[in-house]
Amino acid sequence: MARRKKVYEGKAKILYEGPEPGTLVQYFKDDATAFNAEKRATIEGKGVLNNRLSEFFMTGLNHVGVPTHFIRRINMREQLIRAVEIIPLEVVVRNVAAGSISKRLGIEEGTALPRPIVEFYFKNDDLGDPLVSEEHILAFGWATQQDLDDMVSLALRVNDFLSGLFLGVGIRLVDFKIEIGRIWDGDYMRLIVADEISPDSCRLWDMETGKKLDKDVFRRDLGDLADAYTEVARRLGVMPQGPTGVTKPTLIN
Ligand code: TMP
Ligand code: ASP
Repeated sequence: MARRKKVYEGKAKILYEGPEPGTLVQYFKDDATAFNAEKRATIEGKGVLNNRLSEFFMTGLNHVGVPTHFIRRINMREQLIRAVEIIPLEVVVRNVAAGSISKRLGIEEGTALPRPIVEFYFKNDDLGDPLVSEEHILAFGWATQQDLDDMVSLALRVNDFLSGLFLGVGIRLVDFKIEIGRIWDGDYMRLIVADEISPDSCRLWDMETGKKLDKDVFRRDLGDLADAYTEVARRLGVMPQGPTGVTKPTLIN
């Protein structure tokens, strides 16, 4: 097979040139990082799970009229996506206090927020992705006022969709991060959801027990990350047989 041209390699994914202009192939690695890659590990099966989960969320979003970059799955670890110009901002939506907002503002983890809060972080690993305000974004030209309005609207629609989906399977969507990209249809520019939506970029707590089913399991050494992601996938009816296709042996007493 001819070698494909690698366009970009990030911490958890690789992008290759796609088969047609305007497309890319997104490959999901098994690598996990946290705290700006200070902590690293390889979690067998994570890439397979995230490929399927991101497909599941993005396909659902496309169906309810929220545009995403997802075109179709290619294989276990790869999906065809639309090439976009990524806006250099991470858009975080929070429903419940956890992680950095708890630390920054002294709000106890688990406190329900009065309404969903949308935050922007400047995508820059050297700076550790700092929180920025709309003033910074406009002054430095990372996005226009129209882009900001569209990003908030997209982020809140994604929040409504995902919150409902998770609620149906007994999971609380605490917060999540999305990335947004620009595409052009002729002269007409619009913003679409890009990158990935997976338990790597969400906080997911079991509604009854509070058990964490997301990357905090890895960040905080709470157990087996692939097991947590498999549980999320299984509840959503995605890959009920698990990432390896082999059900784990269970102990029979
Ligand atoms: P935070 O509480 O650390 O700011 O994270 C908020 C949400 O954003 C959480 O669901 C994890 C996600 N996130 C990422 O996906 N990538 C990142 O680099 C960071 C810092 C957070
Ligand atoms: N800081 C990111 C996280 O904890 C991952 C990373 O940048 O390595 O989700």
